[in-house]
Amino acid sequence: MVSSAHPLASAVGLDVMKNGGNAIDAAIATHFALAVVYPQAGNIGGGGFAVIRMNDGTISSLDFREKAPALAHREMYLNADGQLDNLLSTHGHMATGVPGAVDGMFALHQKYGTLPMAELIEPSIKMAQRGYAITPLAAELLNTKQEEFQTHNRWSTPYHSDQNWQAGDTITQPDLAQTLEHIQTNGRNGFYEGIVADQIVAEMQSGNGLISYADLKNYQSVWRKPIIGNYRGHQIISMAPPSSGGIALIQLLQGTEGYPIADWGHNSTKTIHLMAELEKRVYADRATYLGDPDFVDIPVNQLLDSLYNQQRYADISFDKATPSELVSAGEIPSSESPETTHLSVVDADGNAVAITTTLNSSFGNKVMVKGAGFFLNNEMDDFSSKPGVPNQFGLIGGDANAIAPHKRMLSSMTPTIVTKNGKLKMVVGTPGGSTIITSVYQTLLNVIDFDMGMQEAVHAKKVHHQWYPDEIRVETDALTGSVETDLEQLGHQLRMTDKIGRMDCILVLPDGRLEGGADPRGDNTALGY
Ligand code: DON
Repeated sequence: MVSSAHPLASAVGLDVMKNGGNAIDAAIATHFALAVVYPQAGNIGGGGFAVIRMNDGTISSLDFREKAPALAHREMYLNADGQLDNLLSTHGHMATGVPGAVDGMFALHQKYGTLPMAELIEPSIKMAQRGYAITPLAAELLNTKQEEFQTHNRWSTPYHSDQNWQAGDTITQPDLAQTLEHIQTNGRNGFYEGIVADQIVAEMQSGNGLISYADLKNYQSVWRKPIIGNYRGHQIISMAPPSSGGIALIQLLQGTEGYPIADWGHNSTKTIHLMAELEKRVYADRATYLGDPDFVDIPVNQLLDSLYNQQRYADISFDKATPSELVSAGEIPSSESPETTHLSVVDADGNAVAITTTLNSSFGNKVMVKGAGFFLNNEMDDFSSKPGVPNQFGLIGGDANAIAPHKRMLSSMTPTIVTKNGKLKMVVGTPGGSTIITSVYQTLLNVIDFDMGMQEAVHAKKVHHQWYPDEIRVETDALTGSVETDLEQLGHQLRMTDKIGRMDCILVLPDGRLEGGADPRGDNTALGY
């Protein structure tokens, strides 16, 4: 089964498995297909993370996160008065980190692939050449982005339109098809060197961008040891730094395990109060301690230590909310030496892969590389550009996540695999910026504690707290009126929001069949055979 953000991309992945490919082959093909039919987040100009569990129980995870260019520096987004210029870190050429996605797909393929890479890229080339019909949601989104596309591009991209886009309109992408062909013929060097590198560097030079030939050539994805934890008899396998997802998720689950939330009820006052109190503390730790492990010493073992977390949560009161200003990062004695997309795949042999990948904002920095036909990320905004000043997701941070040349920016992406008694149980993940961690957390609770099926768990309304701003974000209709009033009486501020997350998940049912969970908040589709 493949669950991804777009029906055409899920179909590409499914075909790969029908033709004898494994889950990783299917995930790679789906990733390239998303770069064609889901350009707001599917990408070759961005980066991400993959968590893998093969059916023999071996686990691994790949970091293909973007890196700061060599010319990046700590104060690059501050103006003359020392104020942060959010526009520079989110829009246009300067916002872009060195893309990791293409290198990541080749690294995955080298370790696990069984079909030739050329075969996995081929369907995407065809879709880029022949065109694809856009969905109603895509038309709506594209119509809101026209002005930004015009502001940030010197030419008319295939996504420009003078009239409103309509559902069913066809978009062809000849430049992108050619770029994919370069990659198909020349492997990872087809992107990081040669004509595509020329096009990227020329694009950078046209708009104060910093990415150089050397930045591209030297980019390397990194195999990292997955973060592992336990929750009510389940093993949780998730992403290590530079994603904060795995550590934060395990911290939240540790804080939840001591409480009978199934008895309290899904989205009940007490359950949400507990989640919000845990989240404030976990996001405070995130802001203080987490960053690129190649640059900062992250106290991973302490943050995952059950005694540390027990003490950390000891001041949680069930009578009132703790104001965020009274919450700070836990004390660790000494330091140990808007748009993303997720796809989940399980093959017939039980191999599983979870990939979350992103351009950061919807369509990244809005710049399409001229001649090469793909959008660039604006991942640099995930750094903490000024201590204590929020980024586009309202997240704050400090030294651990400050900008430095070649450094990877901290992420919230949380591709996660769950096993029980040594057997695969769930593959989970979602976009949503800072809400990714808490969406994955709630989805695990929905299945494990609230006994929901996969689709129901994905569908269920979500809530979110991230320490600052001091508010619980509540999806429309998530809570009954009385739960809202009760939470306010406990001292929580509530802020209503339209949609949280776009999950793509797979659950292994007790009889071995697979249940997909594809988020109705988007065009997400799970297909199996
Ligand atoms: O890595 C991160 O945490 C962010 N760049 C993810 C962005 C995101 O999920 C936007 N999607 N809605």
